[in-house]
Amino acid sequence: MYEKIRPILFKMNPESAHHLAEIALSMARRCPLFFNWMSEKYFVENEKLHQKIWGLDFKHPIGTAGGFDKNATMIQALPSLGFAWGELGAVTPKPQPGNEKPRVWRHIKEESLQNAFGFNNEGVEVISKRLDEIYPFILPLCMNIGKNKTTPEYKAIEDYKILVKKLKNRVDFFIVNVSSPNTPNLRDLLNEEFVSNLFIELKKITNKPILMKLSPDMDIEFAIQIAKIAVQNGADGIVATNTTVDYNLVKNPQNRGGLSGKVLKEKAYKMFASLAKELFGKTILISVGGIDSAEEAYKRIKAGASLLQIFTAFIYHGPELLKTINEGILELMKKDGYNHISEAIGSDLNKI
Ligand code: FNR
Repeated sequence: MYEKIRPILFKMNPESAHHLAEIALSMARRCPLFFNWMSEKYFVENEKLHQKIWGLDFKHPIGTAGGFDKNATMIQALPSLGFAWGELGAVTPKPQPGNEKPRVWRHIKEESLQNAFGFNNEGVEVISKRLDEIYPFILPLCMNIGKNKTTPEYKAIEDYKILVKKLKNRVDFFIVNVSSPNTPNLRDLLNEEFVSNLFIELKKITNKPILMKLSPDMDIEFAIQIAKIAVQNGADGIVATNTTVDYNLVKNPQNRGGLSGKVLKEKAYKMFASLAKELFGKTILISVGGIDSAEEAYKRIKAGASLLQIFTAFIYHGPELLKTINEGILELMKKDGYNHISEAIGSDLNKI
């Protein structure tokens, strides 16, 4: 079905296409029959993929990634797209328009996207009201939290505190975003002092899980050091990775924004696997970046990922991809003689 819809969407500029899809998907509440039919078609239910993490039920490992549902308008449609959990946002305390348009581009031959959105969102007041209508949801929901562009670095921690206070009873967990390339100086917050203070302060506000998302452009040793500090100070998990500013990865790059999709695959894997070698078993690890097949998904699981996220490959292949990946993971588990996903997670590390 998506093969028929995609050419129509791809004739439009990517931001308008996403907006049109958002309008259609936000109707899920009003058209339950259609969306239930889609869930039956695309949502893979199999005991072997179920996991309970932080007391939450993940029916399979794959969720949406930050930026997919920035304003929390498409939650109801998540199961019909095949996702088992959703990351919403990034949300900031105040609404903000984001960077100038155009700010998202397709690199079709490379099955990649380049985005320079800059946390455009309706702000935490509007988004939390929207969540009031739907939370708790049938699937785990997390929120990607970011600082406003106009908030100076020395006050950044306040933005994150406002967001966690406001949303702690409206989502199941949080992912702290200090790794987007599209907010000036945001990545400067990836330093020991800020990260330790951040987690100490946020964990005073809620005991819900709070994870940290890292950039694939960090020096790997430094990323490991920052991740360890986050975990020592209360982080409940690490998400790797965000988009990359390595513009050599595509033929015709724009001069701003971050790249995602196929061209990010190797870089994201390398960063994830290096982090996992140090942190597997000590915290929950989520892998994201360029996942587009069952083989790649399974590789990340064996490298130590309990959960996975997909954004760009979904834009290129639609919900059929999630079904193919989940069914493929089950096949690959069978070949390896695993009866449950928990046996596969980190199995490559146990071999070392
Ligand atoms: C993103 N990403 C992102 N990440 C984040 O932490 N907060 C955000 O608001 C956004 N916004 C966003 C918008 C768009 C259009 C894209 C394509 C990506 C990054 C995303 O969550 C993910 O980390 C990367 O896209 C890598 O995964 P994929 O796309 O290769 O599966």
